[in-house]
Amino acid sequence: MTTIDSEASTKRRLGAAPAPVDLDPAERLSRDELLATQLERLQWTLRHAYDNVPFYRAKFDAAGVHPEDCRSLEDLAKFPFTTKQDLRDNYPFGMFAVPQDQIRRIHASSGTTGKPTVVGYTGGDIDTWATVMARSIRAAGGRPGQKVHVAYGYGLFTGGLGAHYGVEKLGCTAIPASGGMTGRQVQIITDFEPEVIMVTPSYMLTLLDEFERQGVDPRASSLKVGIFGAEPWTEQMRSEIESRMDIDAVDIYGLSEVMGPGVAQECVETKDGLHIWEDHFYPEIIDPIDENALPDGENGELLFTSLTKEALPIIRYRTRDLTRLLPGTARLAYRRMEKVTGRSDDMIILRGVNIFPTQIEEIVLRVDGLSPHFQLVRSSKGRMDHLTVQVEAHPETSADRRAAAAAEIAARIKDGVGVSVEVAVVEPDSLERSMGKMRRVIDRRAGA
Ligand code: DLL
Repeated sequence: MTTIDSEASTKRRLGAAPAPVDLDPAERLSRDELLATQLERLQWTLRHAYDNVPFYRAKFDAAGVHPEDCRSLEDLAKFPFTTKQDLRDNYPFGMFAVPQDQIRRIHASSGTTGKPTVVGYTGGDIDTWATVMARSIRAAGGRPGQKVHVAYGYGLFTGGLGAHYGVEKLGCTAIPASGGMTGRQVQIITDFEPEVIMVTPSYMLTLLDEFERQGVDPRASSLKVGIFGAEPWTEQMRSEIESRMDIDAVDIYGLSEVMGPGVAQECVETKDGLHIWEDHFYPEIIDPIDENALPDGENGELLFTSLTKEALPIIRYRTRDLTRLLPGTARLAYRRMEKVTGRSDDMIILRGVNIFPTQIEEIVLRVDGLSPHFQLVRSSKGRMDHLTVQVEAHPETSADRRAAAAAEIAARIKDGVGVSVEVAVVEPDSLERSMGKMRRVIDRRAGA
C-alpha cells in the first residue's frame, strides 16, 4: 500500500470556504432577518397544525394555548411537546395535515419495538428537503458537476432518497448505491470515481476494510469528502476515517419525524459542529428530566419545531438526542448544534453510572493495536449488571499486546467514566459489521 502523508496530499484541498456566490440567499440572511422569518413561519405552522390535525387541536386546547398566543419566538415554550409515542398513537396517517391526495411520499422509521413511525411529504415538502440537502452537500464541500456515491439505504428509511434528491438539486450526479453488497460498492467507487460519499460512519468502516481486503488503497480513491450521519460518531472516528481514506469527513444530522437527513450540517471549512437550517427547523434545548428550557450553550435534549412543513407539521418534537446549541460560525445567522453525544435511549446506566457508546468509542480508538470495531454487551452476573466491551484486534497484534490493550481500555474507562467494565479483545473480523446504522449495544440481561 502506498503511504501519502497528509501534508503532501493533493486530495484534501477543500479547506477554503465556498465563495459567497455559491450560497442560497437564505444562507446569507442576517440573524435579525432570520428571526423575523422564523416568527412568521412559526405562526403559520401553529395555525396549520391546529386547524388541520385533530391531535394538535386537542393537545393545544387541553394546555389552554391557541396559535394566536404565539407573538414571539419565546412564546413557543407555552406549547406542548410532541413525542414519538404521539406519532405511534396516530399510526399510520393521523398526524397528517393535508388530504391524502396531496401526499407525494411516505417514509417510515422502524422502531426497535412496536409499530413504525410514519411520516409524509407534499411535493412542496420534498422540494424543501432537496433544498436543505443540497445546501448540506455544498457546505460539506460538494460542488455541482461532481459525482456523489449514496450508500445510505434506499427505501422507507429517509437516508437514501433524502440524500439523492439533494444531490440532484445541487447539480451533481447521483450514484444510488444504497446499503449492502459491500464488495460491489468498492468496485463502483473505483470505476465511477465519485468525489463525495454519503454513508453512515460505521458502514464507512466496513467499506474501508473491504478496500483493504481487495488490495485497493482507499487513500488513492477519487473520494474527497465523506458526509457521515444517521448515528453518533466521535472526533476520534473522524481522525480514523480521514487518515485511512484521505478525505474530509463531516457530520450530517436529521430525523424522519422532522424531515430526514439535512436538518443540520457541518461545514467543511470549520468542522466545528452542525449548522441547523433554522429557516426550516426551529431548535430548542430542554432539561430532559424537569423539561425546563435551557439557554444556548447548555447541554440537554434537542427539540425541533418544523417551520415550513405542509404534510406533517411537528411542534416541539422530543428528539431524545443530547447536545447543545452554539452560535453560528461558517454560516453566521445559523446556530450550530454540537456533535450529538448520544440519545437518552442509548444511555447505559451501569451501577448508577451513565455511559454512552460514544465515550467508549473515544477510548477504544486511542489504543494501539486494535481495530475501530467494537460492541458493548450487557449481561447479568448474579444480581449485578455487567458490561463487556468487545474490541477487535488488528491481525498483526500479538497476544501480549492484546492483553495490554484490554487492560489499558479498562483503566481508561475506570478513570474517565468512573465504572469497572470487562474488556475482551476478540479476533479480527469476529464482530457484526454495519450495513447502515450500527447496533452498538447488545442486551443479554435476563428478561431483556
Ligand atoms: O437517521 C436520518 C439521517 C439519514 C440522518 C442519513 C443523517 C444521514 P432516523 O432513522 O429517523 O433518521 O433516525 C434519527 O438518528 O434522532 C439521532 O438519534 C440519529 N442521528 C441522525 N444523524 C445523526 C448524527 C435518520 N449526525 C436519529 N449524529 C436521530 C448522531 C444522529 N446521531
